[in-house]
Amino acid sequence: MILFTGLTGTVGKEILKLLPEFDVQAKGLVRDMNKADAIKAAGVEVIRGDLGDSAAVKEAMRACDKAFLLTANAQQQLVLEKGFVDAARETGIRRLVKMSANGADSNSTALLKRYHGDAEKYVRESGLSYTLVRPDFFMQNMLHVASGIAEQDKYFMPMRDGRVGIIDARDVARFVLTVLTRSGHENKLYEITGPELVSFHDIASQLSEVMGRDIRYVDVAPEDFKKSLLQWVSNDWYVDTVSDLFELIAQNQGALLNDTYRQVTGTAPTTLRQFFQDYSPAFQPARE
Ligand SMILES: NC(=O)c1ccc[n+]([C@@H]2O[C@H](COP(=O)([O-])OP(=O)(O)OC[C@H]3O[C@@H](n4cnc5c(N)ncnc54)[C@H](OP(=O)(O)O)[C@@H]3O)[C@@H](O)[C@H]2O)c1
Repeated sequence: MILFTGLTGTVGKEILKLLPEFDVQAKGLVRDMNKADAIKAAGVEVIRGDLGDSAAVKEAMRACDKAFLLTANAQQQLVLEKGFVDAARETGIRRLVKMSANGADSNSTALLKRYHGDAEKYVRESGLSYTLVRPDFFMQNMLHVASGIAEQDKYFMPMRDGRVGIIDARDVARFVLTVLTRSGHENKLYEITGPELVSFHDIASQLSEVMGRDIRYVDVAPEDFKKSLLQWVSNDWYVDTVSDLFELIAQNQGALLNDTYRQVTGTAPTTLRQFFQDYSPAFQPARE
């Protein structure tokens, strides 16, 4: 039995869809029962609880031999992840797979990369058998700017000419399930990318071709990006930490392309073009 966290999120929703293919018995730790129906419908046993509630986490781990740890980018991320690792050790979990991120590093200038670097170290030193999964920038992040693109054929970000090995979260889900359910991935660290290293101008070109209209990437100064993000997000901490992540991309730090996804899963990673085809309605202007 595998305990999953994060099943209501971007990667987790894709994990749910793939569970039948991997034929696993699964439990899900869910903090908001209003979101539990889709998880139950996928045949997953739902355990109500917050990652910050150690008793609930341990209860959820009962009868599980493996666990998947994913938390949202948040101020409490490192504390929650360390607590989960402690609970896994105490309850005898045999394999822990942790969602990390490309560029995880305890010395990074970006706090979220430091959190992942420190959490990875904590996992490594826990004595648990582990797999660390570091995906690159998700294609699904483009959905956050989809409504702006639909309205004005432009999107505004502070990435300059930085490039990313952009990867589909559906592939990240497949990768996670592969390393959780197949042998040979014990005590390994995997950085995974999609099939292309692209700039945000390249992303706009590919989207233009798929949508049949001219869509432009507009580069904005980091401070202007922060101001515009603050119109949508009231959390200053979040705006600052996301801006720091984007600055790493703008500096082209960690631009990476590899074939690890294909080697481990035996399937080709999704191209950006395919992603845009699959999600094209999100970028389509609303009909009058
Ligand atoms: N986006 C990217 O480009 C990218 C790239 C590489 C790595 N990553 C890493 O991927 C992770 C995020 O994955 P995602 O985008 O799939 O996540 P997401 O969509 O933000 O969803 C987060 C999930 O965690 C759950 N969660 C958050 N706090 C919780 C708590 N206290 N107790 C229980 N559950 C909690 C959420 O539940 P609710 O639905 O109740 O909120 C949700 O299911 C982060 O670690 C990030 O650093 C992201």
